[in-house]
Amino acid sequence: MKNLTIYASLLMMCGLMSCSVMKESEGGVKVSDDLAYCHTKVSKSLADLGKDSIDYTMMPRNIENQDSVWACRKATPDEWCSGFWPGILWYDYESSKDAKIEEEAKKYTSSLEYLSRRPAFDHDLGFLMLCSYGQQYRLTHDEESKRVLLAAADSLATLFNPTVGTILSWPRNVEMLGGHNTIMDNMINLELLFWASKNGGSETLRDIAVAHAETTMKNQFRPDGTCFHVAVYDSETGEFIKGVTHQGYSDNSTWARGQAWAIYGYTMVYRETGDKKFLDFACKAADVYLKRLPEDMVPYWDFDDPAIPEAPRDASAACVVASALLELDNYCGENKKGYYREAAESMLASLGSEAYRSGSHKDSFLDHSTGHKPAGSEIDASIVYADYYYLEALLRLKNLQENETEQTSEGGSAPSLAVILNLLR
Ligand code: GLY
Repeated sequence: MKNLTIYASLLMMCGLMSCSVMKESEGGVKVSDDLAYCHTKVSKSLADLGKDSIDYTMMPRNIENQDSVWACRKATPDEWCSGFWPGILWYDYESSKDAKIEEEAKKYTSSLEYLSRRPAFDHDLGFLMLCSYGQQYRLTHDEESKRVLLAAADSLATLFNPTVGTILSWPRNVEMLGGHNTIMDNMINLELLFWASKNGGSETLRDIAVAHAETTMKNQFRPDGTCFHVAVYDSETGEFIKGVTHQGYSDNSTWARGQAWAIYGYTMVYRETGDKKFLDFACKAADVYLKRLPEDMVPYWDFDDPAIPEAPRDASAACVVASALLELDNYCGENKKGYYREAAESMLASLGSEAYRSGSHKDSFLDHSTGHKPAGSEIDASIVYADYYYLEALLRLKNLQENETEQTSEGGSAPSLAVILNLLR
């Protein structure tokens, strides 16, 4: 009888706790610990950046292996990574509720405002403004962010070529590449256009985003679902000329972060359109990526580098994909539900292990990302966008777990026997 009473109270407790307990242990991801780790690193970074009073126009970009503090770059229009550090601060503020972090996030974000008042340098305007002002607007709903984001979206849209059906990613490289060029990374920037069209901007912005996604889907993928980094089109006729690489091993190889942008991008386009062809496509791009991963779920920088297993990894691709899969899993039907989530949790467990965490001597969250291997830059380093998507993925997982806990406490699914038995031990 006494045991039955204990069992009944445990059932009630489990009703409240089961999902978070299960998810923290099953996937091996200690979300709360990982978020606390990130908060410590953010606070330490700010202290190091502010030793001689902070210059808010200098944005953390990378930490090479021998270094311990962020190498920063000026937030100029051609520095594509400047939005990630403000974005990290916003995510960390969301997680920690630390008012000091919010204050710093606002200051760094405001350094990018001027980009909304000048012609788009290239497609990266989306990364720059969504990660900074997009996050600020999401958390504060301030009118200034809205104004900046709407102006930036209009500016990004000027790069759209209606004959081709895509945004010109790199205006500066038209001659070098032999025509209108669109890179896979550009998929991420469509989110700014979708956002603007829902928040007072023109409907045309949405049409541009959809056309870009459709044209890219048609031309920039191989039959197996892997992608070319760059598609080159005839600017006048719109004809697809060739698929090539810029940051990958070769034109026909699969550059890990390019595939990561594709998975993330098509998942987002499905969220914004509800069009099932984009969901199917996101799954196809994800499935071929998952099939080719090494055991620890963190890809080599390019899946086809003949130097594998000696080739460097790209933890940043793993972070982008982990975040994307946590979203994609929600859209899957019953037959696939849980599949992508499990993969994402394995990736996060691996990234949170000693093998990928930056040591205590470094201000970054993670090591082992590869930026631009063919150019010999940022190889096996800490890179700011890896940290940004890592934190995003952790927060997505935390939100999923909290929702499940709520559902369970409202009478959702029963706690598993394993959890009950563990508590009884
Ligand atoms: N968007 C550039 C990169 O992924 O390296």
